[in-house]
Amino acid sequence: MILVTGGAGFIGANFILDWLQVTDEPVLNLDKLTYAGNPENLASLAGDARYVFVQGDICDRPLVERLLQRYRPRAIVHFAAESHVDRSLHGPEAFLRTNVDGTFTLLEAARAYWSELPAAEKAAFRFHQVSTDEVYGSLSPEAAPFTEAHPYRPNSPYSASKAAADHLVRAWHRSYGLPVLTSHCSNNYGPYHFPEKLIPLVIVNALAGKPLPIYGDGQQVRDWLYVGDHCAAIRHILAAGRPGESYNVGGGNELANLDIVQKVCALLDAFRPRPGGESDGESDGKSYARQIRFVADRPGHDRRYAIDASKLERELGWRPAESFASGLAKTVRWYLDHPDWVARVQSGAYRDWLQTHYGEP
Ligand code: NAD
Ligand code: TYD
Repeated sequence: MILVTGGAGFIGANFILDWLQVTDEPVLNLDKLTYAGNPENLASLAGDARYVFVQGDICDRPLVERLLQRYRPRAIVHFAAESHVDRSLHGPEAFLRTNVDGTFTLLEAARAYWSELPAAEKAAFRFHQVSTDEVYGSLSPEAAPFTEAHPYRPNSPYSASKAAADHLVRAWHRSYGLPVLTSHCSNNYGPYHFPEKLIPLVIVNALAGKPLPIYGDGQQVRDWLYVGDHCAAIRHILAAGRPGESYNVGGGNELANLDIVQKVCALLDAFRPRPGGESDGESDGKSYARQIRFVADRPGHDRRYAIDASKLERELGWRPAESFASGLAKTVRWYLDHPDWVARVQSGAYRDWLQTHYGEP
C-alpha cells in the first residue's frame, strides 16, 4: 500500500485514479478536505477495496502515526498543500501551517515508522515530496530553463513555503537517512482543476459570460504539462528514482498567459460557440476572447518559468505523452462535459474567495 496525502485535490485525485488503473496496489488517501479537496473527484472508486479514504490533517501527528502503524505503507506520496499563489498573498499563515508544519509532521512520523521497519522494507521505503518549479523563482526571457541545480529563489509566500518544505525533506535525508525523492513540476492543467487557477477559471468564466482576467500585460510565461503526464512522472520516480535526488518535470510547452487564454477561447468557440442574447440557441458569432480584461498585476509576479526535464528523461525514460494541443482540447471538453462538478465546487468558500480577491459581490 502507498499513503497519498492531499489525494482529493487536483493532482492527487488524478494520481490516485491513474495509479489504480495501472497497478493493483492499494492507496490510503489522507486529506483534510479544504476548499480545494473534493471527494467527488474519486467517486468512481466507491466500493473499490483498493482505496481507503481518511479525512484528516497532515499536521495531526497522532493521526498520521496511527495510520502508518495500521496500514504500513511502503511509500508516502506527499501532495497535500495550500497551492494557490494569489491566496498565499492574501493569507500566508495557512501556507506555513500545511506546507511547512505539515511536511515536518509527516517527515517526523515517517522517520519514526521507517526506523523501526525490518531491513529490506526499510531500504525499499520512499517519501516522495511533490514540489514545484516555483521554488526556483523567475527566469529572464533569454535564461536557460531550470535544472535541478538551479538555486532556490522563491518569490511568493506559496513558493517560499514549498521551498522550506523541500529543505526539510532534503535535511531528513542527509541527517537521518530517510529515503526521500523530490520532484519539481511546472504548471499542470487537466480535469478536476479547481477554477481559481488560470485555465479552468477562463473556461468557467467564459461560459458564464464573465470577464477573463489577465494579470498585467499577460506576457508572463509558464511551462504547461498535462496532469496525466505529471502522474506518470511521479510513478517513474517512485519506482526508480535515486533516494536523495530531485527530478524536474515539465512539458517543454512555454506559453505566455495571453496566448493560453486565446487558445482556450478558440477551443470554446469551436466546441460551444458563444450564445446570442435572446436568439434561441443561436450564437452571437463572436469569440469568447472579447471577454478578456487586463487587470492589476499580481504582486511579485514571476515573469517566466521553464523546466529542463532531461534528467528524468535520461535516467528514468519519462517523456510527456500529451501535446499541449491535445491536452488542452481534452481539458476543455472535460469541463464542457462536467457542468455539475463545476457548479458544486463553486460553493461557499470559493465565492468568499472571489469576493476577497476580485471584490465580486
Ligand atoms: P490542490 O490545492 O488542488 O489540492 C490540495 C489538496 O490537499 C486538497 O485536496 C486539500 O484538501 C488537501 N490539503 C490541504 N491542506 C491539508 C492538510 N493540512 N492536511 C491534509 N490535506 C490537506 O493542489 P494541487 O494543484 O493538486 O497540487 C498538489 C501538489 O502538487 C501541491 O503540493 C503543489 O505544491 C504541487 N504542484 C502543483 C502544481 C500545479 O500546477 N497545480 C505544479 C507543481 C506542483
Ligand atoms: P495560476 O494558475 O494561479 O498558477 P501559478 O501562479 O502557480 O503559475 O496562474 C498561472 C498564470 O496565470 C500566472 O502567471 C498568473 C496568471 N493568471 C492571470 O493572468 N489571471 C488569472 O485570473 C489567474 C488565476 C492567473
